[in-house]
Amino acid sequence: MEDESKGNPFVEYVRSDVLFSLQQFRTGSGAERSFLIMSQIMELLFKLAYDESVRARELLDTDDIAGALWNLRRLRHVYAMLSGAWDVLSAMSPAEYGEFREQLGEGSGFQSYMYRHMEFSLGNKNPAMAGMHGGDERTYRELRRTLAEPSLYDAVLRLLRRRGLPVPDACVERDWSEPYEEQDAVVEIWRTVYSERDNYGDLHRLAEALVDLAHDFARWRSLHLLTVERLIGAKTGTGGTSGASWLRRVSEHRFFPELWSVRSTL
Ligand code: HEM
Repeated sequence: MEDESKGNPFVEYVRSDVLFSLQQFRTGSGAERSFLIMSQIMELLFKLAYDESVRARELLDTDDIAGALWNLRRLRHVYAMLSGAWDVLSAMSPAEYGEFREQLGEGSGFQSYMYRHMEFSLGNKNPAMAGMHGGDERTYRELRRTLAEPSLYDAVLRLLRRRGLPVPDACVERDWSEPYEEQDAVVEIWRTVYSERDNYGDLHRLAEALVDLAHDFARWRSLHLLTVERLIGAKTGTGGTSGASWLRRVSEHRFFPELWSVRSTL
């Protein structure tokens, strides 16, 4: 491809020439244009969200709670943009979606590896979701690496322990690639943080920033489900699941589980 960026410092930096070349539509449908472009935008935002949560984790590893909170503040805005993308997609009618659905074949956002990096980095570890990328050596290797690293929530629990709070051993040294299991002792620690805000002001701010994040992610999932319901009703998904009913179940997942459980005790 001819390099159209030469002599244009903006295009040289943003590489909009390369970006636009990626809009390879499969039909003449106007709805497909919005679908592909919004899908590409979401993929870019998944990557940004992943990078920001890794950075926040690194800051927590150095006990820099203020720095991590600053990063999480930006991450919230990334999630707001991700949720806003559903407004564009839900403006599509079922008939418009039907104009290009067949062209997707078995392709589904379900197969987005950057979405998995983002989920794993926050704490929703699921080796099977990495396993489905086994056919692509590099993607699989990178997903296994993210799976094996402590998540943002693992870093929070380790920080609580360094602050002298009684976090169980099983939370601070474990096989990070395995799903995290909720611990009563951690619910109790958050109860202490919430009820003794004078002693734990920074941890209280961190807890609420994490709930903001979990809330924003849950909103993205709920809006996805709503969009799917209005576009395909109860039809099966292109990725092979039962569709809306499968997504409804997934939508019930909550990041940072003890921060939700503790609310029944406050
Ligand atoms: C607007 C039309 C869309 C419909 C009808 C739709 C439908 C579905 C369905 C039915 C599933 C379940 C898996 C399957 O059987 O395919 C799914 C999963 C998923 N979709 Fe969409 N989707 C749409 C757009 C998008 C877009 C634009 C993205 C972002 C790139 C996306 C990201 C995802 C992700 C990440 C999953 C996996 C969720 C998880 O594992 O928790 N979807 N989608």
